Order: sequence, then structure tokens, then C-alpha cells
Amino acid sequence: MSKKDFTVFRKTTKLVHHFISAGVTVADTVIDATCGNGYDTVFLSKLVKEKGKVFAFDVQEKAIQASKKELRFSNANENVEFFQTCHSKIKKTISPDYKGKIKCAVFNLGYLPRSDKKIVTSSETSIKAISDCLEFIMPNGLVIVTVYVGHEEGLRESKAIDEYIKSLDKKLYKLRIIRSEIDEPYILCIIKL
Ligand SMILES: C[S@@+](CC[C@H](N)C(=O)[O-])C[C@H]1O[C@@H](n2cnc3c(N)ncnc32)[C@H](O)[C@@H]1O
Repeated sequence: MSKKDFTVFRKTTKLVHHFISAGVTVADTVIDATCGNGYDTVFLSKLVKEKGKVFAFDVQEKAIQASKKELRFSNANENVEFFQTCHSKIKKTISPDYKGKIKCAVFNLGYLPRSDKKIVTSSETSIKAISDCLEFIMPNGLVIVTVYVGHEEGLRESKAIDEYIKSLDKKLYKLRIIRSEIDEPYILCIIKL
């Protein structure tokens, strides 16, 4: 029997990586909008390899340090540039030369696990950041967002994001939403046409 199966569907983070790997490849430039403990950053860094680039954002020094450690631990490439700032400042941080050249932007919303739950993403800045990333994404590029509804701010954020995506022009963007149980995190994929 082959070792291949569908266990990837059991865990949201694995499913997100599966979707990302469908389109991100060697030499691509990508954004990790919430680097946290660095698991997504490492995954992206390994996909794009030496010739690629990862712009990684987080508001917390602790998260940036954890991500750098994770990169060292995983022997990932030195292709990651970190910014300790709010992802709503992406447009001010990344050169406009990258507009239309980013393959994928990854948002894993919420708070850093086992850390201060008050430092959490919020709808105002998340929506601004998602919208700005859509300007940087190339045609057929992807903005992928994991939205959490299991805590108060997450629920508020998810309602605002759900409203925001309804406002996107369907001629310009294709949406795919992967939901399981009502109170579980869901994955939002915005593909630029
Ligand atoms: C669920 S964690 C991300 C997990 C991460 N992607 C990983 O692979 O480990 C969410 C992160 O978002 C960060 N965050 C919260 N508000 C933010 C903001 N406005 N801009 C950027 N990062 C933010 C938190 O500090 C936290 O580290």
C-alpha cells in the first residue's frame, strides 16, 4: 500500500501548507504577514529556496526571535527579511517595486500560542493588510488567511473579514473558503485573477 493519503486534511496548518505548495516554488517572493513561532516562515523559506525571498512580519519581538530560532533549527535558507511591525504597514515597508511580483501572502491570524493573548490580530489592521497584499500579489497569486473564531476578538475579526471579502470584485478575485465545524478555524483563499 502507498504511503500517500489525506491526513493533510486533518490539520488546518497542514492544509494551508498544502495549498501554498500548489503555487509557490523556487525563486518566488512571498509574505508571511504573521510569523509567530516561524513555522510558516520556515515552510515558505524552504519552498522558495536561496533565489527566493520571504518578507516576514510580526508586532512582537518575541515572535521574531522565535522565528529566527526556528529557521536556524530547521537549517532553512537565509532568504527571510524580518520586520517587527504591524502588517498594516506592509505598503510602507516593502518597496513598491514588488507590486505585482509577490506570489503569495500568508496570514495566520490570532495570538501567539502560549503567549500574551492580548496581543492579537484585529479586523481593522488585518483587513488593511489583506487589501494591501492584494496590490502586491501577481496575477494567479494567492492571499491565504487562517481565521480563528474560538476567541472574542477572533469572532469579531472573522465577521468583519467575511463582510470585507463580500465586497471584493468577483471579476478580479476568485474566493475559496474551507470550513469544517462552525467553531473551528477556517481558511480563506483569495486568488487574483
Ligand atoms: C497564530 S500566530 C502566527 C503563527 C505563525 N504563522 C507560525 O507559523 O507560528 C499570530 C501572530 O500574529 C501576530 N500579530 C498580532 N497582531 C499583528 C499585527 N497587527 N501585525 C503583525 N502581526 C501581528 C502575533 O504577535 C502572533 O505572533
